[in-house]
Amino acid sequence: INYTILEDEVEASQHVAGLFASMINRKPQCVLGLATGGTPVKVYSNLCRRFLAGEVAFEQVTTFNLDEYVGLPPGHEQSYRSFMNEQLFRHVDVPLEQTHFPDAGRLVINDGVVDSESANSIAADYEALIERTGGIDLQLLGIGTNGHIAFNEPGSTIDSMTRLVGLTESTIAANARFFEDASDVPRQAFTMGIATILRARKIVLMATGESKAEAVASAINGAVTSDNPASFLQTHSDTLFVLDKAAASAIA
Ligand code: F6R
Repeated sequence: INYTILEDEVEASQHVAGLFASMINRKPQCVLGLATGGTPVKVYSNLCRRFLAGEVAFEQVTTFNLDEYVGLPPGHEQSYRSFMNEQLFRHVDVPLEQTHFPDAGRLVINDGVVDSESANSIAADYEALIERTGGIDLQLLGIGTNGHIAFNEPGSTIDSMTRLVGLTESTIAANARFFEDASDVPRQAFTMGIATILRARKIVLMATGESKAEAVASAINGAVTSDNPASFLQTHSDTLFVLDKAAASAIA
């Protein structure tokens, strides 16, 4: 895995935004894979700035987000759809019909029990839609402190596809900062699988801060193992980690 170390979060974000802007300018009809969470917030604001400055346009871009929570009412401000609308989509010229998320709202739950057929069809539809657009040209990833990418928690396999998953307690705790109460954090989500992510032609994983240092170091130098899902990126031929100094601090 190639990596580049920048001074801080601001510089790392500018660098990642530059990679996305270059991709769009090289291929205006490109397909982007996008992430939510705290890490890419400044990437998206930088892209908004570049759009306003006339340096990049999103009119023909198609996007696929990595994941979406299950069980939030439509329009809930912590849904990943709302997050992306607020952070990026509504500030640029991308038509919303070209922006995609796993359609978690279609999930059928009877007396608290998930209808697995509906879960499988939501997941299969998402995979098929990605395929139909020609596949992802450039995928943005963050990383969890336990090495998760998207919501592929430890234990996820290299051949995993888009599916419904339960979130681990550590991920629920980490995401609680965005909710009023930890009990409001969804327990399940649809996520692209490891195999889905590895099909992207280029992958950029961004990580900032000391708390990511161990997961980053073992993803780069450790064994390729389900114990650290990000380590599967070692099997991909065009993956770049963009790190700040703190997130790079444990690399040997
Ligand atoms: C977000 C996602 C997650 C985050 C990861 C890091 O779409 O799939 O894997 O990238 O949890 O989150 P932050 O950036 O908030 O530290």
